[in-house]
Amino acid sequence: MEGRPAATDSTRAVGARGDAAMGAGDGAAPPGLRATGVTPAIESLNLRKTYGQHVAVSGLTLAIAPGEIFGFLGPNGAGKSTVVKMLLGLIFPSGGTARLLGRPIGDAGVKARLGFLPEHFRFHEWLQAGEFLEFHASLYRMPGPRRRQRIGEVLELVGLTSRVKDRLHTFSKGMLQRIGIAQALLNDPEIVFLDEPTSALDPLGRREVRDLIRKLKAQGKTVFLNSHLLSEVEMVCDRVAILDRGRVVRQGLLRDLLGESHEVELQIGNMTPELRQELAGRYRLLRADGVAVTLGVTCRDEIPGIAEAVIRGGGRLYGLTARRFSLEDLFVAVVEGGSER
Ligand SMILES: Nc1ncnc2c1ncn2[C@@H]1O[C@H](COP(=O)(O)OP(=O)(O)OP(=O)(O)O)[C@@H](O)[C@H]1O
Ligand SMILES: [Mg+2]
Repeated sequence: MEGRPAATDSTRAVGARGDAAMGAGDGAAPPGLRATGVTPAIESLNLRKTYGQHVAVSGLTLAIAPGEIFGFLGPNGAGKSTVVKMLLGLIFPSGGTARLLGRPIGDAGVKARLGFLPEHFRFHEWLQAGEFLEFHASLYRMPGPRRRQRIGEVLELVGLTSRVKDRLHTFSKGMLQRIGIAQALLNDPEIVFLDEPTSALDPLGRREVRDLIRKLKAQGKTVFLNSHLLSEVEMVCDRVAILDRGRVVRQGLLRDLLGESHEVELQIGNMTPELRQELAGRYRLLRADGVAVTLGVTCRDEIPGIAEAVIRGGGRLYGLTARRFSLEDLFVAVVEGGSER
């Protein structure tokens, strides 16, 4: 937005905020974030939302560093969109606090520094792409010359420059998603909230959005990404939180959460009960089905030892396949019972 504070404002030391509501001892910051004196781009403490008796979000405490791509995951109805709407000041929390760029949620100055692609974005389909962006830019009260320049920039960023005169009803779903993202970037926001930006897209469209998210990161923006598409999130996010029934069940840097864990599938002939017991005692036994045994290990260096143990125990090793744990494995392990239970 015009005249917004310089980006360095968002990197003030936490100690300089003079804010008692979310002090340094709240424990929300990712390890090292507060230690470096960096103000989180987004932080929340015990954020809560209830609808009547129904608890949609319960005690959400998180912190996201400036410039991070944050993946917010969870099954249908977990509360992801509710959290985004609270952070954007579109709905009021029932309890708790949150700050964006060091300011309380709802702060008008901060709202001007945010971008948002809602999950069910409705387009004025009769408008040309350029007219659509003109309309949204006018909501930011951007002066004419700046408006035209910025519309050109965002169209180029999302690869739709040549479609500026085309009406939105002629756009594919992927193009609509991209023009929606262009709309979210018009005010050159410091934090961009994208609620399911790739759910309707084919693999090529998803890749385009992923590349776009990486471009935003390269520009130093913080991206808050709601998504069900775990492989997408795995490819692009630095930090993730998994929400289940309104509660965060796991959060952290993706590399820490997935670590070096591997799933090792073995095909073993001459398997004896003693050998099975030996393997189950030394490693995490995930599955055993006839000659196929699947073990979980936390470190890649444990894998050669598995082969040795099989041979030492008199087994005949017909196959060993190691696969790194994926975000999907983690998601399935921590979210129980499917969606909207
Ligand atoms: N305005 C509302 N009134 C009553 N309940 C609501 C309202 N908005 C959301 N909820 C409920 O809050 C819970 C969380 O909904 P939310 O839309 O945040 O989930 P979500 O994680 O975004 O799901 P999805 O992945 O399907 O988009 C759901 O149980 C939903 O029914
Ligand atoms: Mg949602």
